[in-house]
Amino acid sequence: MAALARSVLVIGSNQGIGLELVRQLAASPCPPQHIFATCRDPKGLRGKALQELAAQHPSIKLVQLDTVNLPSIRGAVRAVGSHLKDQGLNLLINNAGVSLHATLRSLDSQKMLSAFADRQPSPTLLSLPQKFLLLLEKAVKGTGKEGLSCSKAAAINVSTKLVSIGLCLRVPQAPMYPYRASKAAQNMVTRCMAAELQDKGILCTAIHPGWVKTDTGTEKVPVMVEHSVRGILTVPASLSQDTSGAFLDWEGNSLPW
Ligand SMILES: NC(=O)c1ccc[n+]([C@@H]2O[C@H](COP(=O)([O-])OP(=O)(O)OC[C@H]3O[C@@H](n4cnc5c(N)ncnc54)[C@H](OP(=O)(O)O)[C@@H]3O)[C@@H](O)[C@H]2O)c1
Repeated sequence: MAALARSVLVIGSNQGIGLELVRQLAASPCPPQHIFATCRDPKGLRGKALQELAAQHPSIKLVQLDTVNLPSIRGAVRAVGSHLKDQGLNLLINNAGVSLHATLRSLDSQKMLSAFADRQPSPTLLSLPQKFLLLLEKAVKGTGKEGLSCSKAAAINVSTKLVSIGLCLRVPQAPMYPYRASKAAQNMVTRCMAAELQDKGILCTAIHPGWVKTDTGTEKVPVMVEHSVRGILTVPASLSQDTSGAFLDWEGNSLPW
C-alpha cells in the first residue's frame, strides 16, 4: 500500500478533525514521511495532545501557525520549506475554522466583516494555499508524475455542506450568516484555484467532513470524528484530474456548489 503522500501539512491540528487527521496519518500502515501539524500554540496547553502524539511518531513535526497572522503564516512556510529542502510539499489540508453564529436579526456589518478579517480564519485561509504555493510547485517538479493527484501536489480545503448554495433552501436551520458567507467565499477560491493551478499540476478540492462531534460540530451530531477522518483520508487517494475543483463529502459523494 502506497503512502497517501510523501509530505502532508494539516492546518489547525491541535483538536477535533485536525488532530484526528494527524493521528490517523501517523498510524497508517504506510505513513507519510513528513507530517507537519500546525497549531497556534504548539508549546502551550492547547497543543498538549499534539505534543503527546508527536512524541510517539517522529514523522510528526509541530509548526506554529495562526491563520489570521501573516508573519506567523510566513514563518510556517519557512519552517516547512527548510525542513523539506528541495522536495516541496505534496498535500496541504486546510482544516482550521471557527463557526461564527449570527441570525438575520442579530447580524451586523461588524460581525460579517470580522468573519472576513480578523476573527474567523476562513478568509485568511482563502489565501493559505497561495502562501504555500511555491512549496506545492516544488513538489510537482520533484515527483515527475503525470496528471493530478494528492501524492503529487494538492490543496484540500475543509469546507461544509452548509455553504452549498445549491442545497441552501433545503438546509435553512443554521443561523450562521458570517460562517456560511466566509466559507462560501473559500469555496469560490477553491474552485478558482483548481482552474488556475491544474496546468501547473496542482489539484484543489473542497471536502465537507460530515456533522462531526467536535467543539465546532457540538455533541449532538451523527458522525464520530474517527469515522469522518477515515473518510476524509480515503477520498484524496481517489482524486485526479476529473475531480480537481470538486466539492465532495467525506464519503466521496459530490455536492452541489
Ligand atoms: N465539526 C463539524 O461538524 C464540521 C462540519 C463542517 C465543517 N467543519 C469544518 O471542519 C474544520 C475543523 O473543525 P472541527 O470540527 O475539528 O472544529 P474544532 O474542534 O473547533 O477545531 C478547529 C481547529 O481550528 C483551529 N483554529 C481556529 N482558529 C485558528 C486560527 N486563527 N489559526 C490556526 N488555527 C485555528 C483550532 O485551533 P485552536 O484550538 O487554537 O482554536 C482547532 O484546531 C473547520 O474548518 C470546520 O469549519 C466541521
